[in-house]
Amino acid sequence: MEQYAIKGGNPLVGEVEIGGAKNAALAILAASVMTDETVLIENMPDVRDTNVLLQAMESIGVIIERIDRHTVKINGAHINGLVIDGDYIKRIRAGYYLLGALLGKYKKAEVAFPGGCNIGSRPIDQHIKGFKALGADVDIAHGLIKAEAEHLRGGHIYMDVVTVGATMNVMMAAVMAEGQTIIENAAKEPHVVDLANFLNSMGANIRGAGTDVIRIKGVQKLHSTEYTIIPDQIEAGTFMFAAAVTRGDVTVKNVIPKHLESISAKLIEIGCEVEESDDAVRVVAAKRLNHTQVKTLPYPGFPTDMQPQIAVALGLSSGTSIVTESIFENRFKYVDELTRMGASIKVESNTAIIDGVDRYTGASITAPDLRAGAALVIAGLAAEGITTIDEIRYIERGYEDFPLKLRMLGAQIEVVDTEKDLQKFKLRVG
Ligand code: UD1
Repeated sequence: MEQYAIKGGNPLVGEVEIGGAKNAALAILAASVMTDETVLIENMPDVRDTNVLLQAMESIGVIIERIDRHTVKINGAHINGLVIDGDYIKRIRAGYYLLGALLGKYKKAEVAFPGGCNIGSRPIDQHIKGFKALGADVDIAHGLIKAEAEHLRGGHIYMDVVTVGATMNVMMAAVMAEGQTIIENAAKEPHVVDLANFLNSMGANIRGAGTDVIRIKGVQKLHSTEYTIIPDQIEAGTFMFAAAVTRGDVTVKNVIPKHLESISAKLIEIGCEVEESDDAVRVVAAKRLNHTQVKTLPYPGFPTDMQPQIAVALGLSSGTSIVTESIFENRFKYVDELTRMGASIKVESNTAIIDGVDRYTGASITAPDLRAGAALVIAGLAAEGITTIDEIRYIERGYEDFPLKLRMLGAQIEVVDTEKDLQKFKLRVG
C-alpha cells in the first residue's frame, strides 16, 4: 500500500504555486450541468475529489472534455439519468451538489447519501429544509435522497447553522425557481462567493453572496460561460503552516491574500513574519513559535480545515496552547498519531490543550482524514528521523502533487509502495 516516507529536519524554503480551490471546484463542476450549453472551467484542481465527481457526472451522460490538466469543458445537454450511484458518492461528500444542480434544472434528482471525511456527524437537514422551502418533496429511503418538485418557487430560508454545503446546494436549486429566494444566516466562505459569481456568469441573478443574506431572483435558463476557479485557501494555508513548523521561508503564489487573513493573523501571533503582496504571501519563521489560543469558526473566522495544521505548529511552540473546534465534533483523531511523534496534547470534548514540546520524532502513522493527513505530513517534515504515513488516499483527495510541491521547497518526501522502496528511501536520505 502506498505511503509517504518523510525524512524531517529541512526548513522549507522557496516558492510554491497554489492550485484552484477544491471546495469551490466541486460546487462549480456540479453547477455546470445546469445549462445545455458548453461551459469551460479553468484552474480546476486535479485531485481525487474533483475527478470522482467528474466520473459521477459522466455516469449520467454529462460530456466532459479535458482540455488540459486544469481545464475542462462540460456539457450537460444529454443527461440521461438523474440517479447518482452510491459508489461515487461514498467516496466524496460533494456529490450532493448534484442534488441541488439537477433539482434546479430538471426539478428531480436522486443522490446517494453523502460520504466524505469522517470528522463527526454530518447531517444534511439544512439542505433538505432549503429544498422543501422551494417546494420540493424530499424523501430519504434505501440510502438515497430523492428530491422532486412540480414547480420550484422562491422561498425564504433561515439556516439554523452556518453551513457551506447547504448554502451552495440551495443556491443552485433556487437559481431557476420562480420568484425570489432569500437565504439568511448564509455561509460567507470564498467558495460560496465563487459559486455565486460562476452562476451569475451563466445568467443567474444572485446578490449578497459573501454576506449572511443571499438574494436570488429566479431566471428562466442559464447559458454558456468561461470561468476561472479561485485559488485554494486551505492548500495555501497548509503551505504557510508548513513554513512555520519547519522554521522556513515560503512564498505561496497565486493566492488571494484577503482569503488568508485569519491564517496570516495567527501566524503573526505565534511569531512568524508574514508579507503580503497582490497575489502572494510570504511566511518566514526564524525562531521558535509562541503559544496561542484559537477557535475554529465560519469564514471570516479561522477555518476548521486548518485546525490540525495549526495544532501541529502549536505542538512545537513554547508554552501551553488551546485549540477549540466549534464546527465538527470529531476532528481531533490525529492527536493519537501526533502523540506517537512526541506531542503532548490532551483532548477534552471539543478542546485540545497542547503543551509545546521541543521536537517531534519520526514514527509510523496513519492519516485519519484529508486535512489531518496533511497536518501529519507537516509534523513529519519537522520531525527528527523518518516518518511514514499510511492512507495517503485521503490526502490525495484534496492536495495536487503534494510531495512534489514539498520537494521543490527542499523537503525529503516520497511515495513508497513496498518495504524495499522504503529501504531505498532511507539509504538515499542517509
Ligand atoms: C464544507 C467543506 C469542508 C469544511 C466545511 C466547513 C466541502 C466539500 N467541504 O463541508 O472541507 O470543513 O465546509 O468549512 O466543501 N450542518 C448541519 N446541517 C446541515 C449541514 C451542516 O447541522 O444540513 C452542520 C455540520 O454538522 C457542521 C456545520 O454545519 O457542524 C458546518 O458544516 P458545512 O459548512 O455544511 O460543511 P460541509 O459543507 O459538509
